Amino acid sequence: MKVSRVFKWGETMSDEKTTSGGFFDRLFRRRRAETEVAAPPQLAGRRKRQNLPEIQGLVIMITGASSGFGEVTARQAVAAGAKVVLGARREDRLKALVKELGESNAVYAVTDVRNCEDVKALAQAGIRKFGRIDALVNNAGIMPLSPLSLGRVDDWDRMIDVNIKGVLYGIHAVLGHMMERGSGKIVNISSVAGLQTLPVTGVYSGTKFAVRAISEGLRQETAGKIQVTTIYPGAFATELGDSITDDSVREAMMQSDLAQVVQPPERVAEAILFALAQDPGVSVNELVIRPTAQG
Ligand SMILES: NC(=O)c1ccc[n+]([C@@H]2O[C@H](COP(=O)([O-])OP(=O)(O)OC[C@H]3O[C@@H](n4cnc5c(N)ncnc54)[C@H](OP(=O)(O)O)[C@@H]3O)[C@@H](O)[C@H]2O)c1
Repeated sequence: MKVSRVFKWGETMSDEKTTSGGFFDRLFRRRRAETEVAAPPQLAGRRKRQNLPEIQGLVIMITGASSGFGEVTARQAVAAGAKVVLGARREDRLKALVKELGESNAVYAVTDVRNCEDVKALAQAGIRKFGRIDALVNNAGIMPLSPLSLGRVDDWDRMIDVNIKGVLYGIHAVLGHMMERGSGKIVNISSVAGLQTLPVTGVYSGTKFAVRAISEGLRQETAGKIQVTTIYPGAFATELGDSITDDSVREAMMQSDLAQVVQPPERVAEAILFALAQDPGVSVNELVIRPTAQG
């Protein structure tokens, strides 16, 4: 059986409607089901909490909104009273999400972040529908890890195009609009791999280190106007692992300690909303969030 079939997972969790697949997600759900049985009574129900900050009325553009962090951030944002502008390539997912969130709260545009015009069109769709973009979550990303010696040049190119150029195109699509209005919030999603390189993460880490550098440049250039945040997530249960194209790396990843400790993407969405909820005078510039058990 193909790996991609074995590791697709479509069920939703009982108390949190979450993203729809990926092998980390499957491992997480299985492990959580086990630990829930063993959980002491005083911890029962803790997962039902909803830490929704005050982001009412914000218009938030989110790239990579068709799964993972982007999808759950959209859900939490609308639940907290925000409007969302959703971009990704998989139209069926975006359409279903807009239907779920309500057309008065959400709009989508099919967007390939490797294409600057697509990302500009996404921002324009949001401005047409809601009159402005208050915030950008530059989230779309891929992680086809492999050792450099394998020379998977196509994967390197795609990572650079999506994870670096995509972030730049996102900034480009909204920055003029935000500067004209004198305010705006930009959250760029890096990774703990953007703080540390490990074997097989060389290129992925390179792209995520770049996100940090770009964020810092943006912060300094726009000081006083734009609130810039870089978020560095550890291992969370999304579809990201499915973007690994090398079978041996995928297999190693699935067997790794990391796969045993992944946490739900809702925790990262809460961190994103926490950054977005800050008053204009304050910026959460950097935020590292990882499973407590991640080494
Ligand atoms: N999950 C983790 O443990 C983790 C840890 C650290 C950092 N991150 C970062 O978090 C971000 C979100 O990833 P995720 O974990 O939520 O994974 P995910 O579930 O795979 O989501 C990735 C999103 O990016 C979109 N995307 C990929 N290529 C795109 C393209 N060319 N144009 C537009 N959208 C594209 C995908 O949508 P389409 O395929 O529909 O286009 C999808 O919506 C990424 O930047 C990732 O590097 C994740």
